[in-house]
Amino acid sequence: MLVTMKEQLQKAKEGKYAVGMFNVMTVEMLQAVIEAAEEMRSPVIVGTSEGMASYIGIKNIAAMVKIAAEATDIPISLHLDHGTKLETLKKTIDAGYTSVMIDGSKNPLEENIAITREGAAIASPHGVTVEGELGRISGTEDTISVSEREASMTMPDEAEKFVAETGVDCLAVSIGNAHGIYKGEPKLDFDRLREIKKRVSTLLVLHGASGIPDDAVQEAITIGICKINIATDLQVAFISRVRKILENDSKIYDPRKILGPAEEDMKSVVKNKMELFMSAGKV
Ligand code: 13P
Repeated sequence: MLVTMKEQLQKAKEGKYAVGMFNVMTVEMLQAVIEAAEEMRSPVIVGTSEGMASYIGIKNIAAMVKIAAEATDIPISLHLDHGTKLETLKKTIDAGYTSVMIDGSKNPLEENIAITREGAAIASPHGVTVEGELGRISGTEDTISVSEREASMTMPDEAEKFVAETGVDCLAVSIGNAHGIYKGEPKLDFDRLREIKKRVSTLLVLHGASGIPDDAVQEAITIGICKINIATDLQVAFISRVRKILENDSKIYDPRKILGPAEEDMKSVVKNKMELFMSAGKV
């Protein structure tokens, strides 16, 4: 069934687990995520980036998720990840997305608040969950200095102001996490996360979770993270299998024989994450 992300995450917060948001880019990736959720009896969030939504088509992806959700008792939400344009927010909400992120984090605090508040004013009246981001969750550039890294992290006092003034349901935090493949082992600032948790009662989100060690992921959940975003690990699993098949057989041309096994490998990764996030068996 199709649900809002807010109701999934409120249950996760109470139950001390996290719901995975898995970014999908192809129909096979969408199937892998939904089948994994069914097999693990886990709630799940299907994520599409702003670029991705227009790659498959916002209405197309919304229709596919709606049909899949109607056919199962697993709670599924459909989320716009890192939306930057209010126009995209409106389009996704009209198409039936049940959750949107408005990402104004590249702006100074006051501008981020203004953009996010505008996004929340568009989404909330439709009962659509709203996620905002404070601090910058960058890529994994190794040119970044320690002081730049510190400056990009979420300030707990600003988090309190941001949540109060924007009305977001969920807050994506920057605590040493980054998108993409980490150069070394990522070190999350758990004291900062504890301080943020003390200051805000909103639902807390961890982006860039591919490559974060399992014990750190579970510690973040223990402190209060209840949504975890995964993209890179899925892409690597999917494409590694595609690459292997093509390398082993230069004559193969049936897409099902290439993408089918890739879907299976990706599904295993999703299932492992559901175990790790402790959302498996929660339906
Ligand atoms: P990764 O690609 O690092 O898993 O990050 C995903 C993410 O946070 C999407 O918003």
